[in-house]
Amino acid sequence: MRSFNTILVTGGAGFIGANFIHYLFSRPDFQGKIINLDVLTYAGNLESLDDIEKTHGGKRYFFERADICDRAAVEAIFAKHAPDAVVHFAAESHVDRSILGPEAFVKTNVMGTFTMLDVARNAWKGREDVLFHHVSTDEVFGSLGETGYFTEKTPYDPRSPYSAAKAGSDHLVMAYSHTFGLPVTLTNCSNNYGPYQFPEKLIPVMILNMVEGKPLPVYGDGRNIRDWLYVEDHNSAVWTVMTKGKPGETYNIGGENEWENIKLLKELMASVARHTGKNLADYEKLITYVKDRPGHDRRYAIDCSKLKKELGWKQSFTFDQGLDRTVAWYLENTKWIEDVRSGAYRDWIKKNYGER
Ligand code: NAD
Ligand code: DAU
Repeated sequence: MRSFNTILVTGGAGFIGANFIHYLFSRPDFQGKIINLDVLTYAGNLESLDDIEKTHGGKRYFFERADICDRAAVEAIFAKHAPDAVVHFAAESHVDRSILGPEAFVKTNVMGTFTMLDVARNAWKGREDVLFHHVSTDEVFGSLGETGYFTEKTPYDPRSPYSAAKAGSDHLVMAYSHTFGLPVTLTNCSNNYGPYQFPEKLIPVMILNMVEGKPLPVYGDGRNIRDWLYVEDHNSAVWTVMTKGKPGETYNIGGENEWENIKLLKELMASVARHTGKNLADYEKLITYVKDRPGHDRRYAIDCSKLKKELGWKQSFTFDQGLDRTVAWYLENTKWIEDVRSGAYRDWIKKNYGER
């Protein structure tokens, strides 16, 4: 089992990265330091780590504001903290935004990943006791029909600017392993949900719109399928791969939990109604079918048997448990929601979509 002294987490102020930092500090088998490198785009919010800063700041937790495309800044962070692992979460992550403005996706996801890899290679100079873990998505595999699953051998077939840029980053990671011998692991995960997710993705958008009595915008016919995984289960899988995975290998991570969007929305309504005491009918009347996302992938479904069989990982949260925790979190954390919404996102969404 591999262990690490200093882990450089990129994108640690985002949804999955912030949850990862909480997860690692809750694990007794990790007693090292975490460096959070994040440029704080609209999706990055340090409030998600207030408690970590209070408990571990300046001792085991350090924040560094920097752009992963800025080579000099990344080199200085490597020189200052000498990490022996990188967990690379930082990315532009929202498909709708990649359709409206692909450039930032190519810059951050492709050039940013290249910069991180190249700085790590130069800083680590052939060391084998180090690891670059790249966090990627199942969207690189394209779209499935009614049957079948993505495995680690499925050919890449990305179809949005987001997934194309993530596919580019994955290829660079594997190229650095094959060409330069950089010790890497790579995971491709399905849709995550849970606390601290920016309210532009399906689940937080729907929870907040229900509470505020706003329309619930369902794209197309609402029958696109995603495989949903509670964020802590994603992070336990990332940690499993970092500590036990074989360098140079890729692993799929998934919930084995497929839902049509419209059916998921009904589950979510039931959970929100349980928490608020309102009638389901109050929420059902808000469902509004809207114009489909261009190029909208129909179905994603992950086969994660390699990770389960070879490394012994499994999901810990049922969908009911995960949804219940997520709904409770969004109902309780109104200040976090107000703060992220009052930032650049609000202006951006108004400009591009008008008020919802
Ligand atoms: P997010 O959008 O919530 O957070 C991204 C973070 O990266 C933010 O804190 C942002 O400030 C930071 N960032 C963006 N550009 C940067 C740059 N140039 N330099 C430094 N920091 C920068 O994303 P997320 O949902 O937490 O996703 C994290 C990773 O997981 C991404 O690589 C994404 O592709 C992957 N992933 C996400 C999901 C999902 O369902 N959300 C599923 C599978 C894989
Ligand atoms: O599969 C992993 C991917 O999951 C990650 O790589 C991405 O970073 C993450 O954003 C997510 O991508 P999706 O496009 O699947 O997630 P999103 O929450 O945007 O949409 C989920 C589904 O719900 C999708 O079919 C589009 C639909 N949708 C989404 C929104 C925001 C709606 O019907 N209405 C909405 O308002």
